Formats: sequence, C-alpha cells, structure tokens
Amino acid sequence: MTATSPLFRPYTAKQPNPWPELAADRARCPVAHNTELDAVQVTSYAGVKEALRNHAAFSSTYSNLWPLDAPLPEYKQVLGAADPPRHTRQRKLLVRALSASRVATMRPFSETLANQLVDDILAAGPRFDLITDYARKISEAHVAELLGIPDEDRPSFAHMATLIDRHTDALVDEGLRYDGPVLGLWRRCLAPAQVQDIDVAETSKLFVAVAAANHDPVQFDDPDTFRLDRHDASTHLTFGAGIHLCVGMNLARLELTTAVATLYRRLPDLHLTAGGTEQVPGPLIRSWRHIDMEYDRTPFHPATN
Ligand code: HEM
Repeated sequence: MTATSPLFRPYTAKQPNPWPELAADRARCPVAHNTELDAVQVTSYAGVKEALRNHAAFSSTYSNLWPLDAPLPEYKQVLGAADPPRHTRQRKLLVRALSASRVATMRPFSETLANQLVDDILAAGPRFDLITDYARKISEAHVAELLGIPDEDRPSFAHMATLIDRHTDALVDEGLRYDGPVLGLWRRCLAPAQVQDIDVAETSKLFVAVAAANHDPVQFDDPDTFRLDRHDASTHLTFGAGIHLCVGMNLARLELTTAVATLYRRLPDLHLTAGGTEQVPGPLIRSWRHIDMEYDRTPFHPATN
C-alpha cells in the first residue's frame, strides 16, 4: 500500500465536481487507504474492474451500499448484497424478466409515459423539478409496469430494440460514463487479496470508485470531455462489472433513452434555473435532491412518436 493519502472526502467535503480530486488520487495512489472512508479506495479503470470481478475475495454481504462492520443477516443478503451461491440462484430468477427482448416490449409504454409527464409539465408552467416531476416518476412507473404485467400478456416486440435511436444511445452511454449516478460501491475483503498487485489486508473495507474509473485516461481518450463520437463509451463501469453487473441495465437504458429524447424533442430550449442544487450526501451516489429547470413555452413540439 502506498503512503500517499487520497484526497477524496465525500463525507466531509463532497464536491459538486469530484473529478479533479479523483484524478489526483488515480494518478498518485490508485489503490490506497482513504482515512476518511476507513477503506482501501480503488480509482483506476483496471483496478476497479479487477476488484469488481474478484467476488471470491471481495464480498458484497457486508452491503454494497454501506460500509458495515458485520455481514447482513442472511435474509437481507439479496442480489447486490449476496455472494454465490445464494446470489447465483437469486439472479437467475431476474435475468429473463429484465432481458433486452423483454424490456423492448416496454418501449411503447415508456414513450407514452414520458409524453404524459411532459404534458403535465407544460400544463403546470414554465418551471419544474427535473427530479421530482420527471426522473423519479419515470423510474417508479417503469418498475410498476414491469411488476404489473403478466408474462403471457406481453406482446413480442423484440425487433423494436433495433429501432432505438442510435444518437440517443450514444448520448445516454456518454452521459453514464461522463457523469453517472454512482460514485462508488462497497466491498469487504474476506481473504488476503491484491488489486493491481497491491496487497489488500483481509477484513479491509474496499471502496471501488467507478466514477473515477470512468475518467481514467488509460481507458478513455480525453476523459474529462463529453464527446458523442466515442466508440467505447459503453465500456464505462457505471453498471458495475462481474457477477453483479446491473441486471436492470436494459431497462435503465430504455428509461434514459425515452426520457432524454422526449424531453429534448418537446422542450428544446430547456435550461437550468439559477437556483442552487443540493447533492445527496455520502460517497456512493452522485445525485441531486432537486434540479430546477425552466423552458420557453412557445417552441415546443407536439407529442408525436
Ligand atoms: C442508471 C440507472 C442504474 C444504474 C447506474 C445502476 C447501477 C448498478 C450497479 C453499479 C450495480 C452493481 C452493484 C454492485 O456491484 O455492488 C447494479 C446492480 C443491480 N441493479 Fe442496477 N442500476 C441502474 C438501474 C437499475 C434498474 C432500473 C433496475 C431494476 C429494474 C436495477 C436493478 C439492479 C439489481 C437487481 C442489481 C443487483 C444485481 C446483482 O447483484 O446481480 N438497476 N446496478
């Protein structure tokens, strides 16, 4: 372990723009103990990927959300908080329900929903909260829809997956790489292990900084620039890696694609208001409680898909 201390301090000094300090940590000490986190912090792309793939040493049962001191009780060891073989059985049940072809059948629902929410936003006036009036409603309604429709009632629209607008795809993946909702994930080391040839002591907590990995210049050219012409944006680690790779990523991509496309098509002059934004605290999530937006009523396009 290097003697250099990481600068990242998400509990006491959470930055609106964490990239410079994460970049400094990645350059000086990509695998190093962070005193504030009381954990080994991993910030390089190669290190993050290696750590996430080593589920044998780095357990999720101490929670991937909180740095707990003891494993969760067994009944709480579910999916993202479970190790094999329990995790393997649980995940099998979900993979089919959230497959690309199943999620493609939700596309008409997704587009109608986004348009209805924009109708409501337009009816309410030129200001709205992107989080509470749009993003949260979209995510809740998709889960409700997924749970509510029995298998046999779902038409087969697998071919619709191919109709997804390629430009919006590029926007969504570059958005997830450049500034995704996950800063990092927690693991607990349960056997002597290494990350990038650096020893990680048994019982260490591990903080795997996926957001730092997504800006690693070894993996992405010009990483701090938002670019729609990247061929490799989708190699970002915002959905994790290894056995816990986000099982909902097809649905997340559908939601993001329709949400972004509908918003920008119907409210093309959308902009942030001057008001401040408040971040969700803690090291795990990069997200805001509210994002106040404003649009000009006149130039919007009607709801046609
Ligand atoms: C942009 C949106 C999303 C992001 C960035 C995201 C990110 C992630 C990440 C990083 C993991 C890995 C956790 C770990 O390794 O500890 C994960 C796992 C998971 N995600 Fe997502 N997720 C998103 C949306 C969704 C949605 C919409 C669903 C459900 C429909 C979902 C369900 C899950 C489940 C069940 C797991 C656990 C999988 C496992 O442990 O095998 N996610 N997600």
